[in-house]
Amino acid sequence: MKNIQLAIIALILSISVSTLLYAEETAETPEQTAAEATIDTEEATEEIEAETEEKEEIEAEAEEEEVEADAEETEEDVEEAEEEGEEEEEYDEDTYGPEAPIIWMHPVKGVAFLHKIHTMDAGLDCDACHDDLFEMEAGAAEEKDDFVMETIYEGGYCGACHDGDSAFAANTQCATCHIGVMGAMRENGETEEAGH
Ligand code: HEC
Ligand code: HEC
Ligand code: HEC
Repeated sequence: MKNIQLAIIALILSISVSTLLYAEETAETPEQTAAEATIDTEEATEEIEAETEEKEEIEAEAEEEEVEADAEETEEDVEEAEEEGEEEEEYDEDTYGPEAPIIWMHPVKGVAFLHKIHTMDAGLDCDACHDDLFEMEAGAAEEKDDFVMETIYEGGYCGACHDGDSAFAANTQCATCHIGVMGAMRENGETEEAGH
């Protein structure tokens, strides 16, 4: 009888010990829990970071599209402005002076003057030239003996501005004013230095 009692106790003990052992095996150590928590946090952080990156990408794309849209608008504006500019090509002689070029044939052939370049484009007033430098009469200057390069280089006529300061210097780009003289000069055996 005592043996049976002992056997039962032994059995109960062994069951509880094995239960305890099993419990200990499955129970996570605090370190393990902490480690898993860390992994969880890391995963969450990564997810958030990924989402943030995505959002930033979307925002950047949206911005790019906006910039492109702006650029297109600017292009449209420029086109519109150009169209308006073309309409302005209906040059207003009352505002800008006569449209026809003034061409002198004396002393050399083919020196051209355009009001448009000076008034409409360069923004000069009529009284920048009239009547101190030039009369309002095509060909008037041509009648004068001093209508030559020397006077111009000294600041007379065109040289009042074409001094390399207010406008390109008269001793450069001869062909810009002399639209038809270069060939004639060569025929006369003169060089480009002729006016100096
Ligand atoms: C940069 C100088 C300059 C400016 C600015 C200028 N002109 Fe003249 N203009 C001339 C010259 C040069 C002539 C020819 C003069 C000559 O041949 O002696 C001339 C001639 C003229 C003539 C005579 C045209 C002809 O066929 O007889 C008129 C009209 C005239 N200008 C009006 C104007 C008006 C209006 C303005 C202002 C809107 C103006 N000019 C601004 C330089 C200028
Ligand atoms: C009141 C100042 C002034 C006077 C006078 C003047 N110009 Fe000009 N000219 C200018 C300015 C400003 C420009 C534009 C800037 C530049 O081209 O250097 C210009 C530009 C020009 C151009 C255009 C150059 C180009 O880029 O194609 C020509 C051609 C010209 N001038 C010829 C003349 C002739 C010819 C005379 C004399 C009959 C003359 N100019 C008298 C101020 C003047
Ligand atoms: C800003 C305009 C302008 C420029 C630039 C210019 N000239 Fe002239 N030139 C004139 C004008 C205006 C006259 C007088 C009108 C005419 O002869 O038809 C003239 C006249 C002349 C003449 C005849 C009168 C003289 O001075 O003997 C010669 C030659 C000449 N130019 C050479 C030159 C040479 C070379 C250059 C370049 C180094 C030059 N020009 C640049 C405007 C210009």
